[in-house]
Amino acid sequence: MNDEPQRPATTIVAASPRHEPKPADPCAMVIFGAFGDLTKRLVVPALYNLNRTGTLPRKFALIGVDLADGTAESWREHLHSMLESFVGNASAEFQVEAIDEKAWSSLASRMSYVQGDITKPDVYARLGDALAEAQKKNSTGGNVIFYLAVADRFFGAVVDRLGEAKLTNQEEGKDGKLRFWRRVVIEKPFGHDLASARTLNAQIGRTLHEGQIFRIDHFLGKETVQNIMAFRFANGLFEPVWNRDRIDHVQITVAETVGVEGRGKFYEATGALRDMVPNHVFTLLGMVAMEPPVGFDAQSIRNKKCEVFSAIPAVPPENAVRGQYGPGTVLGTQMKAYRDEPNVAKDSNIETYVAMKLEIDNWRWAGVPFYLRTGKHMARRLTEIAIRFKEAPHAPFKGGPSGAPTPNWLVIAIQPNEGISLQFEVKRPGPEVTLATVRMNFAYSDWFPKEPNVGYETLLYDVMIGDATLFHRADMVEEAWRIVQPVLDAWAREKADFPNYASGTNGPGGADELIGRDGGRQWRALDPSTEGKK
Ligand code: BG6
Repeated sequence: MNDEPQRPATTIVAASPRHEPKPADPCAMVIFGAFGDLTKRLVVPALYNLNRTGTLPRKFALIGVDLADGTAESWREHLHSMLESFVGNASAEFQVEAIDEKAWSSLASRMSYVQGDITKPDVYARLGDALAEAQKKNSTGGNVIFYLAVADRFFGAVVDRLGEAKLTNQEEGKDGKLRFWRRVVIEKPFGHDLASARTLNAQIGRTLHEGQIFRIDHFLGKETVQNIMAFRFANGLFEPVWNRDRIDHVQITVAETVGVEGRGKFYEATGALRDMVPNHVFTLLGMVAMEPPVGFDAQSIRNKKCEVFSAIPAVPPENAVRGQYGPGTVLGTQMKAYRDEPNVAKDSNIETYVAMKLEIDNWRWAGVPFYLRTGKHMARRLTEIAIRFKEAPHAPFKGGPSGAPTPNWLVIAIQPNEGISLQFEVKRPGPEVTLATVRMNFAYSDWFPKEPNVGYETLLYDVMIGDATLFHRADMVEEAWRIVQPVLDAWAREKADFPNYASGTNGPGGADELIGRDGGRQWRALDPSTEGKK
């Protein structure tokens, strides 16, 4: 007998025809925070990739705005050297063998730079001139994307200044259609709590209408996250069991091995909860828990996600656990404690780990707990959604030589090994009836070639075509903050006993107690080799 696991066939059984992506409108894009980390690591590399694959409009211009002294030339050099650092670098944002210099220079030739303080009106006057110039030179048709890649405290002020300078005004033709559009992309965190998110929504709402606002969450740009909808709603097999009758509980894990990566200042003002939970982790939650939408337009999908959030009661502080890493070894490298990171207070009360339990009070999910956890400096990098099914209603095997069967798990692996696996019981070959737990694995990489991308490509393209499906709406953001608000309040009031987990481990013991309170449940192992043994 051949013990080798069979490789899956790598021929796609059937696929809908690939449509050429709808051409994006001509446009100019303005990046506030032109010399920032996000711009050089993700936003501009994504534009470069769009240009390489022919998806960027030919009539396009890119304008950088930043306080840093610079010129168009120095900005281009700065960005190009970042791209160069990706070449042959396995830990880079995306892997490239060489820079496509033609694609780069055609993008670079359309770049210009405006230096100044983004809180002051004069920058916007000069930006207006730069936009007029770009429109003349690159025929961008008056369409503009303003990308706010700046610290969140500037979001409101930048939108106010843009409005005062009339740069966000759109123009309608006689037929009622827009002659040109103005859109604003806002990074996370969107507010710091419920009150500030409401204030920010109200503030930007004075200048922009909701259709102009694209609140970005890069988790929605990940293929595997988008695939959750296809998996659930394009297959007749899973949806009938996707509810309280068959599902015991759901675990969502976003474990990182990285620490705060030199972002101590940002992290001290943010912490793991604000940085990850109401945005990235809830994005995964929304995808798993939403009802089937009536259509695949932005309105239908976002309505369903918002409905789920509104069915989640605010989390009582006793259902949340926080942690902060101490020193330890991550993947063989000795790491220092969070409190020893640059720009971090020696007695910092900021969490680098969060676990929480929440409930969804609706027909589908009543009584099914969702356990969420995310942390830095963990034993392994792993983002997954694991669905634990209930045990078989009658277990003839109980008490037999193999003991009780292990329950089924369906695991949607988001990263690093994108795929889906289903774990179930089989009979171990031999005269005795004993059970073995096996897994059926679908790995994306077995079936589809991996496109080099940084994950922002789809999202930027969607802004250019005006498709807001993958962006958060004002009400969704406010619901998310409402859910975590009691935890934020309690944590601000009480000093934690930090550090409470060593770098390179599975997080604080309190997280095990949290899930263990519910009939002895356990977190799934972060190490894939022991995955599913619980
Ligand atoms: C960012 C957070 O939004 O997402 C970071 O600010 C985090 O702290 C990152 O590390 C995780 O994203 P990814 O795509 O690397 O999993």
